[in-house]
Amino acid sequence: MNRPIGILDSGIGGVTVLKEIIKLLPNQQYIYYSDSINNPYGEKTKDEVFKCVDKIVKFFIDKNCKAIVFACNTATALTINEIRNKYKDIIIVGIEPAYKMIHDFANNKKTLVMATPGTINSEKFINLYNKYDNGNTMLLSCPSLATLIEEEKDEEIKKYLQEKIPKDNFEAVVLGCTHYPLIKKQIEEILGHIEFYDGGYGVALRLKNLLEENNLISDSTYNILFYDSSNNSDKEKRFYELLKERK
Ligand code: DGL
Repeated sequence: MNRPIGILDSGIGGVTVLKEIIKLLPNQQYIYYSDSINNPYGEKTKDEVFKCVDKIVKFFIDKNCKAIVFACNTATALTINEIRNKYKDIIIVGIEPAYKMIHDFANNKKTLVMATPGTINSEKFINLYNKYDNGNTMLLSCPSLATLIEEEKDEEIKKYLQEKIPKDNFEAVVLGCTHYPLIKKQIEEILGHIEFYDGGYGVALRLKNLLEENNLISDSTYNILFYDSSNNSDKEKRFYELLKERK
């Protein structure tokens, strides 16, 4: 039987992760859940995010999903341990800020980590940061940036970045929120040409390996279903447009 893979985010940002997954696992069925009615997750408490994510996980289980991907750094940072404890029989993979990649590939570089307040202040991220700290990193909590991206407020995004990002000679930027790869160009307008790191490919690879180990890769026809908790048809349109874009 062909069982789908569930992908969740607080909005359309997770499309940046889904694209990496589809590159590695092209012949699978997907369900993408955009929880835009509850966006932003990044400014909610741990309990509030847990309630949102728990509801979506139940939804995926009802749809007989074989694996679930948190295409949301905030959801991973705040809830993945508790959700895994609650749902032990399903594969759950979550994205987190790619700070280990700085350690592995760019350890001497002056680094900026951008993420939601929920992620930056989480115990999970603080542990990761302390483990791989290169002594040359600035952590930048970006409240409401994901919402501006979600709502396509281009002028406000530009202004936000101009005011928020220090004009320092950063060489690498960790995009610790899945919405941020959608504004790489705008970040480069501030910082110039720079190396970007995000966890999309890592999550895709982890998912593929786990599906293989558990014999869950069925060769089926690619298919994707989109759900949005605010039933906004514009979201659906944008989602499919972003999915089609090459980068
Ligand atoms: N896209 C999400 C992340 O990766 C969350 C954005 C938000 O809802 O604050 O953190």
